Amino acid sequence: MFIVFDGPDGSGKSTLLKKVAIEMQLDPFFEKYAVFTTKEPGSTNIGKEIRKILLSVEETPAGLTEFLLFLADRAEHYQRFLKPALKDEKNIVISDRYWESSIVYQCLEQKIINFNDMLKMHKIVTNFLTPDLLFIIDSEIPHGLKNDRFDNLGQDFRENIRKKYHSILKMTNLKYPKIYIDTTEQNWDQYVKDIIRHIKEII
Ligand code: TYD
Repeated sequence: MFIVFDGPDGSGKSTLLKKVAIEMQLDPFFEKYAVFTTKEPGSTNIGKEIRKILLSVEETPAGLTEFLLFLADRAEHYQRFLKPALKDEKNIVISDRYWESSIVYQCLEQKIINFNDMLKMHKIVTNFLTPDLLFIIDSEIPHGLKNDRFDNLGQDFRENIRKKYHSILKMTNLKYPKIYIDTTEQNWDQYVKDIIRHIKEII
C-alpha cells in the first residue's frame, strides 16, 4: 500500500503525516502491517545531496536542471526504497511528497515540462508507480515556513501553487482516490482521525 501526502509548503503536511503514522502503529486494525514513512526530496543518501542543491538559496538551477534533479532524487528513492518496500504486501509506505509535487511545481506552475512528457518520464523513473491513496493537505494560511529557496518564493507563488493542487484534485487522468484536507483551523486530532478512516476504507 502506497499512500502520499502532498500539498503546498506550510500546510502542516509533515507534522500530520508523523501523527498519522504513530496512530496507525498503535491501532490494532493495522496490527498485521508495518508502517513506514518516507519523503521527497532527500530520503536516500544521494537524495540528501540532491536536496541540498535543490533547496540552497545560494544558487538557482535552470528550470530543466531543477526538474531533472527532482527526478534523480525520485529514481534513487524508487530503486533503493519504494520498489523493494512495496513488494511486501504487509508494508504500508506513507510518503511526504511524490510525483504530484513535480506535476504542480515543475509542470503546471513553472511550465518546465508539459504533462505528456512528464508522464513519459514518470514511466521511465518509477515504472508508473502511482499512489493507492493521495491526501492533498492544504491551508489558507501557512503554518510555519522554513528559510529554503522554495519557502522564500512568497505569498503569491504559494497561492498559485495552492490553485494547482486544487486542479490536481479534478484531473481525471490521475485515476486514484484523492482526498482534500484543509488544515486552516488546525484541528489536528480530527484530521488524523479522518485520514485513518480513509486509509481503513481502502485496505
Ligand atoms: P519539502 O521537503 O516538503 O520542504 P520543507 O522541508 O521545507 O517542508 O520540499 C521541498 C520543496 O521541493 C517544496 O517547496 C516543494 C519542492 N518540490 C518540487 O518542486 N518538486 C518535486 O517534485 C518535489 C518532490 C518537491
